[in-house]
Amino acid sequence: MEIITKLLRNSFEEMVEIRRYLHTYPELSFQEVQTPKYIANYLRNLGLEVRERVGGRGVVAKLYGGRPGRTVALRADFDALAIQEHTNVPYKSKIDGVMHACGHDGHTAVLLTLAKCFVQNKDRIDGNIVFIFQHAEEIAPGGAISMIEDGCLEGVDVIFGQHLWAPMALGEIGVNDGAIMAAADRFEIIIEGKGGHGAEPHHAIDPIVIASQFVVQIQTILSRRIDPLKSAVISIGSIEAINPFNVIAQDVKIYGTVRTFNEDLRENIIHLLEKNLKGVCLANDASYKFHYFRGYPPVVNHLEETRLVQEAAQRVQEVSEVKEIPPMMIGEDFAYYLQKVPGSFFLVGAKDPSLETVYPHHHSKFNFDERAMLIAANVLANATYNYLNTYQNN
Ligand code: NI
Repeated sequence: MEIITKLLRNSFEEMVEIRRYLHTYPELSFQEVQTPKYIANYLRNLGLEVRERVGGRGVVAKLYGGRPGRTVALRADFDALAIQEHTNVPYKSKIDGVMHACGHDGHTAVLLTLAKCFVQNKDRIDGNIVFIFQHAEEIAPGGAISMIEDGCLEGVDVIFGQHLWAPMALGEIGVNDGAIMAAADRFEIIIEGKGGHGAEPHHAIDPIVIASQFVVQIQTILSRRIDPLKSAVISIGSIEAINPFNVIAQDVKIYGTVRTFNEDLRENIIHLLEKNLKGVCLANDASYKFHYFRGYPPVVNHLEETRLVQEAAQRVQEVSEVKEIPPMMIGEDFAYYLQKVPGSFFLVGAKDPSLETVYPHHHSKFNFDERAMLIAANVLANATYNYLNTYQNN
């Protein structure tokens, strides 16, 4: 393991170069063309067996270790966001309106460099390593599900993944041995009233008043209908009814999101949302359309594999603290891999200590401390070795 640590340290400059190159040329989810090509070329030059266009635009490479054993999969995502970059870094995005504002450039740089170091050390590996480079993490249905359908987990015993996390201090690793991220769903509602003159509401059916009642009423789903020890979020992000000030709208569109950590609660909330909508429309002689889109399922880590990550992280010199973090309400399609094979997804602190302001992920000024990439690579390397050594000969 000391060998891989040394190899990684010597490759840090290259890791940074890769990250900055990818950062300069970001590509949107489901539109990635150059990025997967770049990844596949790099992996092929290492002498690995490479599969392209896996489940669409994914790239998968396999390394056979010097001795037989189990198979570990490591996953990095590589898509960017529709954001105009507002940083002043020299490697700022050259693609108008597209930016690596979530750190996926870093994830890919980590895994490519790690692949190189593993190859240099492959005779000492007891088993196999599958490198999964996933397209389209940011937008549902996401790339994971189609890559799995296309066989990226075939023969895989365990999977690990990480997210560089700018709100967390450099040197910290965040783990959770259960649900770490939420199911992230979306809904669209149309309340159909009857338009009319603002002065004559009795001849109209005002969908704005009905929508207002609905928004207030659904607040009781979480406060009165759901077990207080279970957590969920229902947020309305947009209400649309654009009219002159003296006109009663014909209809109102409402857009929102639901976040949950378990399937029963998710189904219950969907049911209660529609029930409330139906009730409030019935009471006001309006009609409605209710469209609910299930996003990624919750990311639920496995206990044993999370302990393994924890131990792996504790052995990394640059790691100051490995902490249990509470579940977060964001979504991640790493969830699908964990439904198929055991594994763990963890966070790697990437807050640049010299910065006063840390911009959140998906912000136009987002950036992270690149030293976090080396830490991430070391944790993944240790977890991989630990796992393969533990299950040597079985
Ligand atoms: Ni992300």
